[in-house]
Amino acid sequence: MKTSTKKVSDLIEHLKEISTWVSSVQDLNKLLELIIESAAGVINAKAASLLLLDKKTRMLYFKVATGEKKEEIKEYRIKIGQGIAGHVAKTGEPLLIEDVANDPRWYSQISESIRFKTRSIACVPLKLDNRIIGVVQIVDKQDGSAIDPGDMELLQEFASLAALALGHAQSIEEVRRQNQDLKHELGYRHQLIGKSPALQKVIGDALKVANSKASALILGESGTGKELLARLIHRAGPRKDKPLVVLNCAALPESLLEDELFGHEKGAFTGALNRKIGKFELAHEGTIFLDEIGEMTPGMQAKLLRVLQEGQFYRVGGNIPISVDVRVLSATNKKLDEEVAAGRFREDLYYRLNVVQINMPPLRERLEDIPLLAEHFLNIFKEETVMPHLTISEKALEKMMQYNWPGNIRELRNAIERAVVMGNGKQILPQDLPIASVKPAYPGLQVGLSLEDAINRFKKEFIILNLKQTGGNRSKAAKIMQIQRTYLSRLISKYQIKDI
Ligand SMILES: Nc1ncnc2c1ncn2[C@@H]1O[C@H](COP(=O)(O)OP(=O)(O)OP(=O)(O)O)[C@@H](O)[C@H]1O
Ligand SMILES: [Mg+2]
Repeated sequence: MKTSTKKVSDLIEHLKEISTWVSSVQDLNKLLELIIESAAGVINAKAASLLLLDKKTRMLYFKVATGEKKEEIKEYRIKIGQGIAGHVAKTGEPLLIEDVANDPRWYSQISESIRFKTRSIACVPLKLDNRIIGVVQIVDKQDGSAIDPGDMELLQEFASLAALALGHAQSIEEVRRQNQDLKHELGYRHQLIGKSPALQKVIGDALKVANSKASALILGESGTGKELLARLIHRAGPRKDKPLVVLNCAALPESLLEDELFGHEKGAFTGALNRKIGKFELAHEGTIFLDEIGEMTPGMQAKLLRVLQEGQFYRVGGNIPISVDVRVLSATNKKLDEEVAAGRFREDLYYRLNVVQINMPPLRERLEDIPLLAEHFLNIFKEETVMPHLTISEKALEKMMQYNWPGNIRELRNAIERAVVMGNGKQILPQDLPIASVKPAYPGLQVGLSLEDAINRFKKEFIILNLKQTGGNRSKAAKIMQIQRTYLSRLISKYQIKDI
């Protein structure tokens, strides 16, 4: 017995090892099969099986079975409390029954229907975090001997191993799901939406820049997506698995900004109780995004320039130079060249940051992106509410197309959010949008329309104007416009002009 126990413990070690590399749930079936086959082999049983408890139906089903009837047996479901397996699943206690014929708990139907003569059976529970998730059982020994308590112990070991594999697979599945959710979330929320040539050009440039280490300066009005673009550049490049560290240069006074960027040594100043690692160090091998760079004070600009030139810096109060490999992205809504010309921004720093320049176009210059963006934000906010069928009305969309969006995409996002919250829950109407309706000076005189649409809009308004002038008299109106009355009638129905 001793030697066989030794062999078995070797085997178990081996199996445990296998279970650690089970890295995907697809492998789980294989692994469970391997465990159950090994159990049958080591114990020398005629058949072994693993049954799992279906949470919904509260029935046991055969996940894995060995032996000559393994396919047939998989058809069966066993109620909790029914037969030996059902009993073990109910009580959580192992059972060894040497002669099933004399045991009232024996449920003979399955054995009879698959014509498998069973004499003895051993069954142990399968537990995960103290919950019973199924059972493992063996039936009869090959050599006709009785299943003994030693076999039970082995069976118990195999059951623990199977539970381990199941638990492992479950957590992998969970992590994978969380990861997917996160990725979906990140991917979706950080997606740059828009098909306008202006935005597509920006994205194309960003992807090119992503593959280099060149510093890039992103310029654009407030709310145009500069930060989003910086994230895209980081994610699309070889540094994507390293940190992207964001620092808003406008948010902090100079002394704190220096501390944030470079960190400090313990005791560097009163209150510096511990060493602090700065953002430049945190961004090592990754990217640092210096947002609102136009707000940086001249003193800080000088310090930043030194780091960019030398590739190293000191923590505040420190005397060991720290070298970092950091890719620098920066952004501002100021016209930085004008700041340079006015002497408010160092020219040498400007050239360092501005190796590649990307300009985010304002929303009013890419009106064709509005419907897509509106739909995108609607989907985001819909997810947060319980209005799965909410849509945007034609008129609301028209109002959005006519507005000039000084706050750009951020303003559009906020407008949709408000409309989702304040609207009727079915359709977003023009009055739900917190933007002033701006009528174009002439009907059709707006960006984003085809020439044909623009002309049609003008024609419609022009006809209405003339009809109003004549009190709705079509003949008179046609005469003024110098067209046939029948042609006017056709236009009236084409443009769905109501009686005036
Ligand atoms: N093309 C786009 N597709 C989807 N969402 C966008 C797009 N551009 C911007 N956004 C969203 O608009 C908001 C503003 O974008 P972001 O913060 O990147 O702008 P910004 O240019 O950095 O603005 P600021 O100058 O005010 O800091 C964010 O919520 C962002 O997710
Ligand atoms: Mg920003």
